[in-house]
Amino acid sequence: MKFVMTAMGQQVTLMPLDQAQSLNLDKFERVVIGASIRYGKHRPQVAAFITKNQSTLESKACALFSVNIVARKPEKNQPHTNPYMIKLLKQLGWQPHLLGVFAGRLDYPALGYIDRQMIRFIMAITKGPTDPKAVVEFTDWTQVEAFAHQVCALPVPGEPTALG
Ligand SMILES: Cc1cc2nc3c(=O)[nH]c(=O)nc-3n(C[C@H](O)[C@H](O)[C@H](O)COP(=O)(O)O)c2cc1C
Repeated sequence: MKFVMTAMGQQVTLMPLDQAQSLNLDKFERVVIGASIRYGKHRPQVAAFITKNQSTLESKACALFSVNIVARKPEKNQPHTNPYMIKLLKQLGWQPHLLGVFAGRLDYPALGYIDRQMIRFIMAITKGPTDPKAVVEFTDWTQVEAFAHQVCALPVPGEPTALG
């Protein structure tokens, strides 16, 4: 996403949420917040960051995306059909200008024993891959690229548009 946005002429600062806590958001025109799912939840720091900075975020062009494995299913890969995104938006009471949901990566060998067994169990129930050696990237990178283009095209609040 950073690559695409840079290629489109944007100056991009990419950082983990923990480091973004001390960031002066006023310096930015656009803010993109992305978070993955672990055992049914986004990290609580995601909602905390948004709530703390909500008034500043409302003066920016903002995008929010979630990465999860449930989104590998076509019927759950849109912001309004993905249960984690629906829940997060309900919790936040905040509506960014752009929403994205992307299927993530399943890398069994990279997981510890307990996580691997837990995810295999969840995959067995939801008809996903269960081979403990499997590494599957469900991400549709064309969709990610399109999202990056949409972020660049978001009008920045307070800035004149092409239509004046
Ligand atoms: C321990 C663990 C738990 C996960 N739990 C869920 C889950 O409950 N639902 C889901 O859709 N995806 C789940 N995932 C999939 C992740 O959201 C996905 O792999 C994502 O790409 C991880 O990105 P990250 O490594 O940058 O956090 C889980 C992954 C891991 C490693």
